[in-house]
Amino acid sequence: MSAQIIDGKAFAAKVRGQVAEHVTALKAEHGITPGLAVVLVGEDPASQVYVRSKGKMTNEVGMKSVEHKLDENTSEADLLAVIDQLNKDASIHGILVQLPLPKHLDEDLVINSIDPAKDVDGFHISNVGLLGTGQKSMVPCTPLGCLMMLRDHHGSLSGMNAVVIGRSNIVGKPMAQLLLGDSCTVTIAHSRTKDLPEVVGRADIVVAAVGRPEMVPGDWIKKGATVIDVGINRIERDGKNKLVGDVDFASCSEVAGAITPVPGGVGPMTIACLLANTVTACCRANG
Ligand code: GUN
Repeated sequence: MSAQIIDGKAFAAKVRGQVAEHVTALKAEHGITPGLAVVLVGEDPASQVYVRSKGKMTNEVGMKSVEHKLDENTSEADLLAVIDQLNKDASIHGILVQLPLPKHLDEDLVINSIDPAKDVDGFHISNVGLLGTGQKSMVPCTPLGCLMMLRDHHGSLSGMNAVVIGRSNIVGKPMAQLLLGDSCTVTIAHSRTKDLPEVVGRADIVVAAVGRPEMVPGDWIKKGATVIDVGINRIERDGKNKLVGDVDFASCSEVAGAITPVPGGVGPMTIACLLANTVTACCRANG
């Protein structure tokens, strides 16, 4: 292996430490405790794991953590009522509705009912528009975590060729906006992209966010490129349940200059950025 491993776990611990210091100062100097509310509808096992982990980390940095667990069959009106109550609650600075929602609920309607100032996911249409026009916004946590790791590794990203594989609203599109904001030349590749290996092969930075296990092999990667793997895929291998990313780590790490592992790369940074966004929302709410 030649690539440097970008240790997201260690970086995330550092970010959480900074958040904890900020929380301590807010309490001591202003008597304010930042509060994060997470709303989970239904019993999706992966979502339950994420929500538990978010609650635990929120408490660990000294913030107030509130969880609303709603039944799978909750009506849209009841869910909107919970969000309305959280919007009005001055002790809550961040609201996150865990996705995906059960099919009978309109995800766009629900997300856009969150007060944009409390939308720590950065999914509200106002925040999407602000980010797209380079204005101050709430920035989605996963792309923000990726950007922080890239800036930390490279310093300036100006002029670099970046390829984002995946065009989701949660990761691909905001990631591309952030890289553009840092003056990268950005390509968004997706399932219909022609000659994906050639497109990826031009990139100094590859961000893989497609949700397909080990889809990107090492021979697509330009020598020395930085590879950020957003994928979290469970697969069966050798009779064992294993967590793998969207890139084939074994072959990509032979060619890349730097690479994030799965687990221990992007994942921990996402939650750290959620906590950081909640502190940001709290500071903005209190002037
Ligand atoms: N489900 C998977 N990732 C996310 C995320 O970043 N935010 C929310 N709210 N739900 C998710």
